[in-house]
Parts: sequence; C-alpha cells; structure tokens
Amino acid sequence: MSGLLGRAALRGLLCGPRAGVPSLLVRPSSGEPPWARERTLVTVKPDGVRRRLVGEVIRRFERRGFKLVGLKMLQASESVLAEHYQHHREEPFYPALLSHMRSGPVVAMVWEGPNVVGTSRAMIGLTDSAEAAPGTIRGDFSLHIRRNVIHASDSVEGAQREIRLWFQSSELVDWADEGHRSSLYPA
Ligand code: PPS
Repeated sequence: MSGLLGRAALRGLLCGPRAGVPSLLVRPSSGEPPWARERTLVTVKPDGVRRRLVGEVIRRFERRGFKLVGLKMLQASESVLAEHYQHHREEPFYPALLSHMRSGPVVAMVWEGPNVVGTSRAMIGLTDSAEAAPGTIRGDFSLHIRRNVIHASDSVEGAQREIRLWFQSSELVDWADEGHRSSLYPA
C-alpha cells in the first residue's frame, strides 16, 4: 500500500477528516488528496426511477459538491441483489425488497468526496420514510419504507464492497477536478 500511495498520500490518509478510515479505492493519479477520494454507492431504486427522481438525486449530490465518477442504468440481476442484500436474507421483508428491486431499472452511481459515505446517508434520510426528516431525499419524496427511493452505502467498508459488486473498475472514471475543488475544500 505505501509503495502505491507514497509518503504524501499516506500522510493525507492519516491527517484527513476521516483519519483511521482509509479508503481502498484511492487512485493516486487524480489530483485530489486521498482523504477527499472516499467513494460511496448510491442507487435510485425502481420507484425513484419511475417517479423521474434520478435528476433530482443527481442535482442534490452535485450541488453539495460531490463528484460523479460512475453512472449506469441497469436491470439488477438476482445474483447482484442477493449479494447486495445478503445481511437481510432472513428478514421478513426480504422477498418483497428483492421483488421491488427487480421490478424495473435501477440507476447506480458512484460519488466521490470528503466524508461522502456519512454525508450521503444524512442527505438521503432515515430508512423508514415516515421518520425521514424534511429536507432529506426520503423526507421530501417518500411516504413508505418499501418505496424509499434511494440506497446509499452505510460504511466505508460497505461502500467498497458494494462498488465492487455493482461496477467494473473500468466503468469508474477518475477525472481531474483541480480548478474546482479548491473552492469546495482546502488541500
Ligand atoms: S440501512 O439503510 O441499510 O441501514 O437500512 P436497514 O434497516 O438495514 O435496511 C436494509 C435494507 O432493507 C430495506 N428495508 C425494508 N424494505 C422493505 N420493508 C421493510 N420493512 C424494510 N426495512 C428495511 C431498506 O430500505 C434497506 O434497503 P436499502 O436499499 O439499503 O435502502
């Protein structure tokens, strides 16, 4: 790892806002400090796609300052969904959840930026739409937990697992953002 990242990058991992939570998805060539390269998986679920909320979701993440590095629409396969929701296999809602996720296309995205995992969870709101605060995506657009519009990874480790599950590495674009990022956060 240290050979790949170099000393400056390792310093960034230790000194950045998420010290102690190093991301394995660091790409040294992009110009951002390593702590700013945290990534998360966001999916707009079939109900969100049907309701034309894809643009609204992208607008909110872009407006916050996060960087889109992966985007695709797909009909999620049974095997991807089974792995994605493996921890919930025994839950009573599991069959309905999988059936809903298979009911139409999903838009999967990878967003990058400082603390993107935690911030995106705050932006989407609580899982149960009835408890999601106004101003969050679920709090603004969803009434029921079974149609809660959007998913975002719940931890850095979970994000790494989910990104590998949903995206090939060749589908992620590591584009330079140098002119813009100094207005978003200091180096
Ligand atoms: S979370 O967001 O992962 O922390 O939420 P969690 O409570 O662990 O729920 C995991 C996923 O299961 C969905 N879920 C449900 N679907 C249908 N009915 C019920 N009752 C229900 N409870 C939880 C929840 O939306 C999570 O899916 P994702 O895709 O992660 O949002």
